[in-house]
Amino acid sequence: MKVLVTGGAGYIGSHVVKALRDAGHRTAAYDSLIRGHRKAVLAEEFHQGELADRDRLREVIASFRPEAAIHLAALTSVPESVAQPSLYYRQNVEASLTLLEELARVGVGPFVFSSSAAVYGTPERVPVAEDATPRPINPYGETKLAVERMLHWMAGPHGFRAVSLRYFNASGCDPAGEIGEDHDPETHLIPLVYLAAAGRRGQLTVYGDDYDTPDGTCVRDYVHVGDLAHAHVLAVEKLAGLGNGGFHEVLNLGAERGYSVLEVIRAVEKVLGRPVPYEIGPRRPGDAAVLVASSAKARAELGWRPTRSDLETIIRTGWAWHEKHPHGYDD
Ligand code: UFG
Repeated sequence: MKVLVTGGAGYIGSHVVKALRDAGHRTAAYDSLIRGHRKAVLAEEFHQGELADRDRLREVIASFRPEAAIHLAALTSVPESVAQPSLYYRQNVEASLTLLEELARVGVGPFVFSSSAAVYGTPERVPVAEDATPRPINPYGETKLAVERMLHWMAGPHGFRAVSLRYFNASGCDPAGEIGEDHDPETHLIPLVYLAAAGRRGQLTVYGDDYDTPDGTCVRDYVHVGDLAHAHVLAVEKLAGLGNGGFHEVLNLGAERGYSVLEVIRAVEKVLGRPVPYEIGPRRPGDAAVLVASSAKARAELGWRPTRSDLETIIRTGWAWHEKHPHGYDD
């Protein structure tokens, strides 16, 4: 199948491209390279462009002629979204509408959208299932939910067979070491723990130890990026095999196991065999105490089984890439 992957130069997008390639599909990555990295692109074709640039997008769609699309291009920083909400609405919502209109023009049906556990906000119950009421607590989560709602209404009239995948905490790197995780600035826990352990950034700050959790620090569901990528392949293959009627559904993707910040620190210390210097700081605004997925629906509907999402494999694969690329892709 020919699959257009927006955001194909990003952390998750690059792993999705690799998984599609390994499954025998043809890929074109479309990315602005504002946050992504050219060296991360393993796609057969690479096209640089802004998602909001309708003419460029139209040109790429006309030349590649995709049969399906996977849409990951987005801004993804929660604090940045709080500081610049209009930027997030433009980049994540308006640009997604442009993409959907251009795909509808040429009748591309199968569509996989990169959504987030951020749509849940602070869930009333964990593990959280897809029928929980979404109540985002930051503009980033709002923009992901807005695109899901857009798909809900557009799917029927425009013939999209669409799935929104709500990722929990994407982590780890390609076990073969070809591609990895390189954010600037880095805000994610696990890479920051590596930097602290390696003495590259001073000590780590743990954001709050007075949450209502067993050790007082926040609990998250860490899921290996390779397992996430595989779910995209299963989803796009399933959508392509269905008839023409339009629909949209949502699926959680998590490992269904929570770890606290302190448990992550201990696990990194064990794998790396060195101490992680840290201090306890104040809570970070917008953090939920506990976010753990029920992925029962993805297991039932896609036959998805995470195979690399135990914390040790996540840390081993992530650390291997960070050790080889201490300055990310720009080594
Ligand atoms: N944390 C620290 N210190 C740090 C960094 C993080 O204590 O220096 C804590 C956070 O407070 C949080 C946990 O580690 O409790 C995980 O934080 P991350 O920033 O790695 O991940 P988040 O859970 O905040 O965010 C992730 C994705 C977002 C998505 C969100 C959905 O990165 O894109 O899950 O809940 F919106």
